[in-house]
Amino acid sequence: MLIRIPAPHEPVSSEITPRAVYLNRRTALAGLGLAAASPLALAQSAPGGGKLAKLPGARSAAAGAVVLDKPTSYADASSYNNFYEFGTDKSDPAARAHTLKTRPWTVVIEGECAKPGRYDIDALLKLSAMEERIYRLRCVEGWSMVIPWVGYSLSELIKRAEPTGKAKFVEFTTLADRAQMPGLRSGVLDWPYVEALRMDEAMHPLALLTFGMYGEVLPNQNGAPVRIVLPWKYGFKSAKSIVKIRFVEKQPVSSWEQSAPQEYGFYSNVNPGVAHPRWSQASERRIGEDGLFAKKRPTLMFNGYEAQVGQLYAGMDLKRNF
Ligand code: MTE
Repeated sequence: MLIRIPAPHEPVSSEITPRAVYLNRRTALAGLGLAAASPLALAQSAPGGGKLAKLPGARSAAAGAVVLDKPTSYADASSYNNFYEFGTDKSDPAARAHTLKTRPWTVVIEGECAKPGRYDIDALLKLSAMEERIYRLRCVEGWSMVIPWVGYSLSELIKRAEPTGKAKFVEFTTLADRAQMPGLRSGVLDWPYVEALRMDEAMHPLALLTFGMYGEVLPNQNGAPVRIVLPWKYGFKSAKSIVKIRFVEKQPVSSWEQSAPQEYGFYSNVNPGVAHPRWSQASERRIGEDGLFAKKRPTLMFNGYEAQVGQLYAGMDLKRNF
């Protein structure tokens, strides 16, 4: 790609146009795939590790899909992970997940739908156009990151499955193979790792079926070859290395709910006003900002995505439905 560097006397666009106006214009242009060379877009395109296959995505135009916070470095995002199938230390997944085989890989779609089936991962990759989404990810343990993910809205896949009227929830099951995953020997969770969403949550445009990050395919430790990312929920709802998607009538019990129901609810929406029994949720440490004088950031309701997802929970008691 040719990048035009302005001559020193040329004004930059932010000097001609008020910032709010050019940000809006950029969002509109992003939908047309025209904003790739704008100064802001370049500033946000954090580089990947350079060792994995490229997986570019056009900047998403969905409301809330691109936050302007500085992205976390690739090195941090791919080395400080929770993926208990490879161990419980943050460094275990990066050290051990090389044993995960991501080809061949099949995702089974089943349950209450007119078109159940099995998708080969390479067919799933081609199902819809890849988009780049820069999301905040907030972990219930009190840290957060900002990651440029690559994927498409989960709703694209769900629509093709044609869920029936009985499909009220979507359940995600992830790989549990002792031969590839040393962490399965520990009883920390009841394997396989299972997560679930209400149907309207799963259909929300921000719910991302994710195949890559930083313009490359996902590293194994981040949930290759396919995971979900739900930016308004605590990180543990974003199930990694998915092998099955099932439409069901009854609310499923997720792995975390099953292991500690008093600590982990079904919804797990980021909420600074509802503390976890062991950790306050009022503020967070942004990974990469942990110098001596780094201040914690206040945690935002729905992780800052309230304008987009708030109406999904209108009228619900969020203290009870945590
Ligand atoms: N998915 C599976 N299969 N196993 C896990 O242990 N951990 C969750 C989630 N998805 C987990 C998982 C948790 S607790 C978090 S915070 C996020 O993945 C972390 O995602 P990241 O490592 O890509 O930042």
